[in-house]
Amino acid sequence: MKVIAIMGSPHKGRGFEIVQKIEAELCRLDEVEFTYVFLKDVNLKACQGCFVCIGKGEQLCPLKDEKNNIEAEILSADGVILSTPGYAMNVSALMKNFIDRFAHSLHRPKFFNQSLLLVANGGSGLSKVNSSLGMTLGGSNKVGELKITTTPWEATADYQNRVEKDIAKAAQILYRSMKNKKLAPPSLGNLIWFQIFKKMASLSEQNLPADYEYYRTRTDYFYSTRVNPIKNGVAGIIANIGVATMKKQVKFK
Ligand SMILES: Cc1cc2nc3c(=O)[nH]c(=O)nc-3n(C[C@H](O)[C@H](O)[C@H](O)COP(=O)(O)O)c2cc1C
Repeated sequence: MKVIAIMGSPHKGRGFEIVQKIEAELCRLDEVEFTYVFLKDVNLKACQGCFVCIGKGEQLCPLKDEKNNIEAEILSADGVILSTPGYAMNVSALMKNFIDRFAHSLHRPKFFNQSLLLVANGGSGLSKVNSSLGMTLGGSNKVGELKITTTPWEATADYQNRVEKDIAKAAQILYRSMKNKKLAPPSLGNLIWFQIFKKMASLSEQNLPADYEYYRTRTDYFYSTRVNPIKNGVAGIIANIGVATMKKQVKFK
């Protein structure tokens, strides 16, 4: 079993301590090959905003760095941990760049075999941090999110205990998901996501040729599975409304 931890902190601090505890619990449960990718140390250049990865295909990204190696590592893993400190109620800049560099996978998901655990640490605003953290690695199966608060005052023994328990529980949930890996039938939310992108792609052969090609061959869902016809019908209606709204949306507050 293989797990990769993508570490978003610019130093080896509290986030590293937490993920090491997850590693220890996983290794207690089974034989686990655990790899750390410290974003502070790898060559993952800043996204330049050319939109080539999303529009034409990620293989055409002009940046020459370690992105493809990192992606291959992730694709070969059973589990992925994304760890970031909360900075100004959001992810760290290093993690934001990671999210941007993998944004193409929100258009064309590919991480279907990976169980995903989100780990945010800091003082406040960690729900928002995790919500940003979840905006990457399209197709991965999010099994849980940890929010570990470091208080500015001395933590009580009771609090420390609860933190340790939550960390162990998250590791166990990740482990079970990796062990019982299967491509699940889609939720309503995922069907809506699929149908919105499929509709957008069908209208965007010129501007989003990579999406157009990806969705052209996929009829019911990202992968072949049983799709509940009622959920599918509801998703279709919501997707139609969503795309129609997008076409005319101008908002000013
Ligand atoms: C630039 C900066 C901004 C921060 N903003 C927040 C914040 O908005 N909310 C918060 O709870 N903690 C904030 N923190 C504190 C860090 O999240 C906290 O120290 C965290 O535990 C550091 O994790 P690390 O040791 O893994 O890097 C900030 C720290 C820095 C350096």
